[in-house]
Amino acid sequence: CGIVGYIGYQDVKEILLRGLEKLEYRGYDSAGIAVLNENGVHVFKEKGRIADLRRIVDPNVKATIGIGHTRWATHGAPSRVNAHPHQSASGRFTLVHNGVIENYEMLKRDYLADVEFRSDTDTEVIVQLVEQFVRDGLTTEEAFRQTLSLLKGSYAIAMIDAENEETLYAAKNKSPLLAGLGDGFNVVASDAMAMLQVTNQFVELMDGEMVIVTSENVTIQTLNGETVERKPFTAELDASDIEKGTYPHYMLKEIDEQPFVTRRIIQKYQDEHGGLTIDQAIINEVLNADRLYIVACGTSYHAGLVGKQLIESWAKIPVEVHIASEFSYNMPLLSEKPLFLFISQSGETADSRAVLVQTNKLGHKAITITNVPGSTLSREADYTLLLHAGPEIAVASTKAYTAQIAVLAILAATAAKAKGLELDFDLTKELAIVANVMEMLCDAKEEMENIARDYLTLTRNCFFIGRAVDYYVCLEGALKLKEISYIQAEGFAGGELKHGTIALIEDGTPVIALATQEHVNLSIRGNVKEVVARGANPCVISMRGLEGDGDRFVIPAVHPDLTSLVSVVPLQLIAYYAALHRGCDVDKPRNLAKSVTVE
Ligand code: G6P
Repeated sequence: CGIVGYIGYQDVKEILLRGLEKLEYRGYDSAGIAVLNENGVHVFKEKGRIADLRRIVDPNVKATIGIGHTRWATHGAPSRVNAHPHQSASGRFTLVHNGVIENYEMLKRDYLADVEFRSDTDTEVIVQLVEQFVRDGLTTEEAFRQTLSLLKGSYAIAMIDAENEETLYAAKNKSPLLAGLGDGFNVVASDAMAMLQVTNQFVELMDGEMVIVTSENVTIQTLNGETVERKPFTAELDASDIEKGTYPHYMLKEIDEQPFVTRRIIQKYQDEHGGLTIDQAIINEVLNADRLYIVACGTSYHAGLVGKQLIESWAKIPVEVHIASEFSYNMPLLSEKPLFLFISQSGETADSRAVLVQTNKLGHKAITITNVPGSTLSREADYTLLLHAGPEIAVASTKAYTAQIAVLAILAATAAKAKGLELDFDLTKELAIVANVMEMLCDAKEEMENIARDYLTLTRNCFFIGRAVDYYVCLEGALKLKEISYIQAEGFAGGELKHGTIALIEDGTPVIALATQEHVNLSIRGNVKEVVARGANPCVISMRGLEGDGDRFVIPAVHPDLTSLVSVVPLQLIAYYAALHRGCDVDKPRNLAKSVTVE
C-alpha cells in the first residue's frame, strides 16, 4: 500500500490523485482520498485503480488539506468498505495506513468494546482509538501519540482532524514514510516519487517517530514527545524518469533501458584505471567472511542464484541463497563468520527487512544491493551497493534483475582480485559487449512478438528448461510470464523435468529451452528431444556458436559466465508480448504489487 498527505494552499485533490498514481506500484486494488474544508471532511473511495477513484471525486469540492491511500489488500477483501481512508465513529478523525497492526484484535477488545466498526480492517482500530482518547480528554496530538504507543506492528499513517484544518498528523514504524518540504505547503508520502510533482526536498523519518505537519512546519517527535531535528535531502530523481514517454508500457521502456543501465553501472563502478571496483570496506567484509548468505524475494532471489554462481566460481567463496520469507523462521545453521547480502530492487520488501532486523540483532554484518538509495534496507544494513537502474515502475521487474546481476558480477570479480585470483578476461570489456548484445536483442522485438504469438496465444501452460545458469534464467523467464500473462509457467532444470513434471506435457505444450552453456549443450538438447517425443512444441533459444538445427532464435555471443544478462531479455520480451496479446494489463497485473511492504 502507499499513502500521501498534503497541507498548503493549492487544491489538494489533484495533488493527492497524482501522488497516488505514482504509488500504484505499491498496490492497486482499491484507493481513496479524504479532503477537509470549512464544510467538513469529504471522503471518496473506490474499488479498483486510481483512475476509477478519479471518476468519483467531486470536482466542486475545494480543499487545501487531505490524505490518500492506494491499497494492496491484506486484512479484508478489496472493496469500497475496506478501502482507506477510515473514519472514527463520529467522523471527526480520518486516517490512512500502510502496514499491519498485529495486536488490533486485542486493542479492539480492551479499548473499543462499545464501538461499532464499519470495516474488517486493522486500520479502523487506530482511528477509533484516537477518537476514544480524545473523548477521554486528551488533545488530538496527545491522543495520536497515546494510540501509537499501543500499536504493535508496522505502520505509515496520515490523519486529519475535522476540527483542525491547520494540521496533518503522520507517523512511521517499519513502513516507509517521508516528509516533503515546500514553500507554503508540506507533504508526507510513502515514496518521494509521489510528491516530486511539488517538491524535491524531503526529510527521512525513523521508526517510532510521529510528525506534526502544518503548511509552514514539519515537526518530528519521538513517541516520548521529544522533538527531533533532521536535515532535508534532495531527491535525485528526475521527474521524466518516472514517465512512460512514447512507450505504451513501462515494462517495455524498462526492458529497452537495460543496455543503458549496464553501461551506467560500468561507469559508476569504474576506478581511475578503467577497471571495475567495489568499495574497499565492503570487499574487506567479503574477504573476512567464511560464507555469504544472499537473502531476497521474487526476481531479486533469481538474481541472487546467478550471483551465487559468479561469486563461487570467480572468488571461491561459498554462497547460500535464501528466500527471505522462509529464512526468518527456518534459519539455516550459520557459519562462523557469515556475511549477509540483501538483494532488493525497492529496498522496502518487508520479508527481506524482517531477516535484516534479525541478522542485525545477531550482530552480523550486512550489505544491501538496491535500486533505491535511502530505502529501509539500505539504511539498516552496514553497506549499500546501488543498482543505478533508475526508477523501475512496471510491477514485473526487468532492468533491476540485470542490474543486480551486473553489480553482483563486479562484486565477485573485485573479491576474486583481492584474493589474488585474477580473472582471465576483462570484465569491463565483457560487460560492454553484454550491453551491445542487449541492444540487439531489444531490436528483435518482432521476432519475440512472433514467438509469443506462435507459442503462447492459446496455451494454458508453458515450461522453461535450462541447465546450469540457464536454469536460473528459466526460473525468471517463467516468473515473468506467469506474473503478467497468467499462463501457468514453470522453470525447470533440464534434467529434472523427466522426474515427474514431464507428465504434464501434452500435444502442443510449449517448452522454451535455453541453450547458452557449452558444457551442457548436448544434455539440454537431449531434454528437448524427450519433451518433443511426448508432443511438446519446442522453442530453443541458443547462443551463437552453440546453435543447432531448428533453433528458434540465436543470441549473439557474450562471455559464457555472463549469458544470464542477455538470455533473459528475449524471455522478458516474450512475456511482454504474450500478456499484450492476451489482453492483460502488462504494467499492473492482477493481485500483485511491486513493493510488498507486509510480511
Ligand atoms: C514483489 C514484486 C516482485 C519483486 C519482489 C521483490 O513481489 O512483485 O517483482 O521481485 O517483490 O522485490 P524487491 O523490491 O525486494 O526486489
